[in-house]
Amino acid sequence: MRYRRIPDETVRRMPFYLRGVRILSGKGHSSICSKSLADYLGINDWQIRKDFSYFGDFGKPGVGYDSAKLEKRISKILNLVCDHNVVLVGAGNLGSAILTFNGFGQYGFNIIAAFDNDVKKIGKKRGAVIIEDVSKIAKLKKRKVNLGIISVPASAAQEAADALVAAGVKGLLNFAPVRINVPKKIKVITIDIAIELARLPYYMASSQSQSAWG
Ligand code: NAI
Repeated sequence: MRYRRIPDETVRRMPFYLRGVRILSGKGHSSICSKSLADYLGINDWQIRKDFSYFGDFGKPGVGYDSAKLEKRISKILNLVCDHNVVLVGAGNLGSAILTFNGFGQYGFNIIAAFDNDVKKIGKKRGAVIIEDVSKIAKLKKRKVNLGIISVPASAAQEAADALVAAGVKGLLNFAPVRINVPKKIKVITIDIAIELARLPYYMASSQSQSAWG
């Protein structure tokens, strides 16, 4: 089969599909068609079928997908079938909010450690973890952590990324408003609420409608 690159936008939509399937399934839908999933998510059903088509055969068109199988399939595509240990660097305002948020478990993410360089924060409990001294980050290697969250100021983000990569982390979610450089094999996703806000007025001014995931 010819290699087809999966568009990032498709990958970006897959977790929404997973959440939609779980919610509909929780409401008693044992079978879900692309139309009902699309209606629930507020998008076009062709988009869902097109996105699914990148990953092979999902079932007979028009018949609907078995909910449990669909959930498993999407989870597998997203590599969410096994748990992922997550570490956070920077337990300030944002970091603390992340550490105390209890919605990560449903995707198999366990925040197992948090680091900071502020002596007033080190040793304090946030959520399920005790904040550790960032100078001890290398010890993470023994704890099988594969995802890192960066919530330090921009000036400290590269240093935090380097330490996390050296400790064996393979993917980084970066909240600092700065580009970080990592080896090619490491995936970085940067989230910036200010940037997201900055494009909202454009749609307001031009009255353009916006899809559920922008
Ligand atoms: P904050 O100042 O409350 O927290 C930063 C934490 O990082 C502090 O606890 C500080 O002690 C720690 N820190 C500083 N240098 C460190 C180092 N070298 N190693 C380990 N820890 C270190 O700041 P806040 O508001 O929590 O923001 C954190 C980051 O997230 C900033 O880069 C900010 O711009 C960004 N941010 C991003 C948002 C987004 O939507 N992407 C929203 C809010 C904040």
